[in-house]
Amino acid sequence: MTKISPSILAADFSNLKAEIEKVSDYAQMLHIDVMDGHFVPNISMGVPVLQSIRKNTNMFLDVHLMISKPQDYVDAFIKAGADLICFHLESDCDAKEVIEKVRSAGKKVAIAIKPNTPVEDVMPYVEYLDMVLVMTVEPGFGGQAFMPETMTKVKALRQYINKLDKDIDIQVDGGINRQTAIVAVENGANVLVAGSSVFNSENPALEVEYLRGL
Ligand code: DX5
Ligand code: ZN
Repeated sequence: MTKISPSILAADFSNLKAEIEKVSDYAQMLHIDVMDGHFVPNISMGVPVLQSIRKNTNMFLDVHLMISKPQDYVDAFIKAGADLICFHLESDCDAKEVIEKVRSAGKKVAIAIKPNTPVEDVMPYVEYLDMVLVMTVEPGFGGQAFMPETMTKVKALRQYINKLDKDIDIQVDGGINRQTAIVAVENGANVLVAGSSVFNSENPALEVEYLRGL
C-alpha cells in the first residue's frame, strides 16, 4: 500500500504540534524539509526544530536534507531524532560515506535526485538504500507544479529495484495532489510526499487517507 509523508513545509509553523496531530494517526511518515540557502535558494528549518518535533510525536521522521554538505550534519540530525536521512546525490559529498554514516547509527537512508539528474547516476547506490527520492519539482519551495517528465525515471527505477528483488521504496516529492499522485503511483512510486495538498486542505487527515488509497 502507498505510504504518505506529509511535508510540514506547508504547515503553520507557529502551531506545529497541532498541525502534526492532524495527520499523525493517518500518515506513515512525516517529511521534514531542511534547506541551507546554498544547495537551494531558500532557508527552512534545522536541528532545533527537529528536536522539538521529536519531543512531541512518535511519527517516523523522514528528513530531507537539501544542504551542500550532508556529511557534516548527519550526526546532528540523527541525534535530534531523524528516523530516515535523505541526502542529495548532487550535494558535495561522498555518497558511500554518508550512507555508511547513517547506517552505522542504525537509521534508514535515502538518496534524492533533482529533476535534471539522470536516473543512471543513482543506480550504483540503490542496493544500499532504503529509499530513493525522485524529485518531481526543483527542490527549494513548496507549492510548485508537478513535472510529469520525471516519471520515466520513476518507472526505470521501479524496474531496476524489481530486478534487485529488494524492498526499496521510491518516494516522489513536489506538486503531489489527488491527480498527480495517481500518475506517480502508476509509474511505480510507493511513498508520496505532500505539502500544500495536505496542509492547505480543509481536512488534512481525509486528504492523507485519499492519497493512501491510490
Ligand atoms: C520542495 C520540498 C517539498 C515540498 C513539497 O523542495 O522538498 O517537500 O514541501 O511541497 P508541495 O507538496 O507543496 O509541492
Ligand atoms: Zn522534500
